[in-house]
Formats: sequence, C-alpha cells, structure tokens
Amino acid sequence: MTIELIHGLEGVPIAESAISFVDGAAGRLEYRGIGIDELAEHSTFEETSFLLMFGKLPTPTELAGFKADISNHRRLKFRIVELIKCLPETGHPMDALQAGVAAIGMFYPERHHMVDEARRAACIRLISKAPTVVAAFDRLRKGDDNIDPRDDLSLAGNFLYMLTGEEPDPERERILDICLILHADHTMNASTFAGRVVGSTMADPFSVISSALGALSGPLHGGANEDVMALLDQIGSPSKARPFVEDMISKKTKIPGFGHRVYKAMDPRAKILKRYAEKLAAKSGSAYFETAIEVEKVVQEHYAEKGIWPNVDFFSGIVYDEIGIARDCFTPIFAMARVSGWLAHWLEQMRSNRIFRPTQKYVGEHNVPYTPANKR
Ligand SMILES: CC(C)(COP(=O)(O)OP(=O)(O)OC[C@H]1O[C@@H](n2cnc3c(N)ncnc32)[C@H](O)[C@@H]1OP(=O)(O)O)[C@@H](O)C(=O)NCCC(=O)NCCS
Repeated sequence: MTIELIHGLEGVPIAESAISFVDGAAGRLEYRGIGIDELAEHSTFEETSFLLMFGKLPTPTELAGFKADISNHRRLKFRIVELIKCLPETGHPMDALQAGVAAIGMFYPERHHMVDEARRAACIRLISKAPTVVAAFDRLRKGDDNIDPRDDLSLAGNFLYMLTGEEPDPERERILDICLILHADHTMNASTFAGRVVGSTMADPFSVISSALGALSGPLHGGANEDVMALLDQIGSPSKARPFVEDMISKKTKIPGFGHRVYKAMDPRAKILKRYAEKLAAKSGSAYFETAIEVEKVVQEHYAEKGIWPNVDFFSGIVYDEIGIARDCFTPIFAMARVSGWLAHWLEQMRSNRIFRPTQKYVGEHNVPYTPANKR
C-alpha cells in the first residue's frame, strides 16, 4: 500500500471541532460562531474563556460563579514560588511557565480523575495560575519579591498588578483584556494539536498544557511580535521606514508581522490591535506606531496583491510595549490567553477521544547484518 506523506499535515483535518473558525479570504475569525470583533467589543477574557470551553455564553449567574472561581485560585503554593526562584534569571519566561504548569499539576492528584468536576477544577486552576507564574518569574528574575495576586481584579488587571505592584490603569487593563480575547483560540495549529495529542493518551490536563506551551515556545509559532519590535528599533524613525523596507523587499527578506498561512486578507485581530496601538501611542508619544504605519504602507504597496497583510503580531508588540510589558513576556501573554483555547480543545478531545497513532513512510534499510565493534 502506498502512503501519501503530507509534510506538516498541511490541510489534513485531525479533528471535528466546533470551537473556532477562520475564513482566511474574508479575514474573519469566530469563537463558537461569534465574530472576534464583537467579542473584543463586548466580552471579557473570563467570559470568552467560558464560551470557548463550555460552548455558550454564560448566564449572569454562571459568569459570576466562573469569575469568582478564576479569581479565587490565583495563588501559587509556596513550593512553586520556591521552584520559580531556583530557575535561571537568564531563562525564558515561556520555559518558566512550562516548568511551573508541569510542577503545579503534581499538587493536584485529582487531575487523574476524569470526571467533569475534576476537569473543571483543573481548567480553573490552569487559567488562574498561569498569569501568576509569568508575573512571579518576571519579578523574581529581576531580584524583586513576587507579589501575591488580588482577587478583586480582573485576570488582566491582576496580571498588571502582579507585574508592578501598582493599581492597574483601567484603559491598559481593558486593552490587555482585549489582547487576551484575541489570542484565546485560533483553530488547529501546532500547539493545539500538540495538546490534543497528549490529551488523547489520557494524560492529565497539566501535562496537556505544558506540552502545548512547549510547542508554542518555538520561533515558528509564537514570538514574531518580538521580531517586529526589533525591526522597528532597527528602522529607528518613521522617515527611515521606506528605504529600509524596500531594501528588505529587494533582498526578499521576510518582514516580520506580515503574511499568514490562512489569512490572505488582513488578519481581523491585527485590525483591532491597530486601533489600540494607535490610541496608546497617541497618549505616550512613542514613535513605534508611526514607524509601523510607514512599514505597513510600503509592504502593502508591494505585497497586498500577493495576499500578504499584517498579521496579529504586527501590532500586538506595540500594544504590549506601550502597556510596559517586557519583550520576552509577549509570547507568555499569548500563552496565558491560549490556555483557555487549549483547554477547550482538550475538553472536546475528551468527549470523543481516540488516541492519536499516525503512521510513517519507512525509508530505511532492511535485513542489515550486525557488525561487531572491532569490524566497524
Ligand atoms: C506566517 C508565514 C510563515 C506564513 O507562511 P506561508 O503561508 O507558508 O507562506 P510562504 O512562506 O510560503 O510565503 C508565500 C510567499 O509570500 C512571501 N511572504 C510571506 N510572508 C512574507 C513576509 N512576511 N514578508 C515578505 N514576503 C513574505 C514568501 O516569500 C513567498 O513568496 P514567493 O511565493 O515569491 O516564494 C510567513 O508569512 C512568515 O514567515 N511571516 C513572517 C513571520 C510572522 O509574522 N509570523 C507570525 C505569523 S502569525
């Protein structure tokens, strides 16, 4: 039997899913059928997480209960804080988050009980504690004490509070909340697939999320927004953008923050983030946004016909930078948001699970005789 090999499983469906949907030609993203622009306008990250995981918008009572659960489980056991203190300060926060999540799972042995209640409890803990791990690592690596979470703030507000110890600015809190909504799910991709594969073995949800985090830590998946900021730094000022980008185009260098495997129109998340990047830059007077607009103009002149448009990473770095977030924490913020999407996929996988057991196309030799060591 000949087996057709499809590199990277491109275009191969690996599950039936009702969680999110992308129309790449129209530039539309939906969670459970609701447009991302509507969710960014009206929802919160907590409500969106409920929607993704449980398949419907919560009633006011359900939402209040869910939010209370999320805010009551933010604290880390002191042993986890001690573990984070032992991690190298030069290490990447994504690795700290992955190590933290895997270790947290060891404290909750009921994670192995695959009943609905234990599943829900694990989901709550993962969504609640991921931001605490990122903030604790960010502070401890700089020699600052970690800050205990507050349960009277939103997930986004509490994250900002844990990073700085200051009362979060309501506008920045809401913009971060919107960023979390925008990153919460994005159909089937490497990290979501990794999580579903691990979940399919009936591994516990903490292992599922730490595997997905490992997949997201690779530069081909997360992290282009850091490259966008490096590009804007290299360009230096808006007036230098055109010659710089035209030089990149003539050398066929890929421009970070542009192009997408699925979107051949502007990524709807980039459209929303552009508005907030502009708003924040107008207040701070930072030149990043203006430079980015020049870059966008030049790239569109050359590449719009080819379907290369700004993706989510083009403006998200500027937004995070304006909010005061360290560059290497950009991907961990993506991850904190995506925990909800990964968990939604895990819950879906569990409802009709079959262990992933793909095949291979063997291209090695057969019947090779063993050569003794002295004859090699
Ligand atoms: C995201 C990405 C990997 C999608 O890749 P893809 O769908 O496999 O598209 P390809 O890499 O095959 O590119 C198709 C064509 O568009 C060009 N292209 C794609 N992205 C480009 C970019 N950012 N800048 C310049 N040209 C680009 C390729 O050079 C290629 O041109 P060719 O047909 O003349 O060879 C790619 O667009 C990219 O590397 N972008 C920059 C990194 C980035 O922003 N990543 C975050 C994604 S959310």
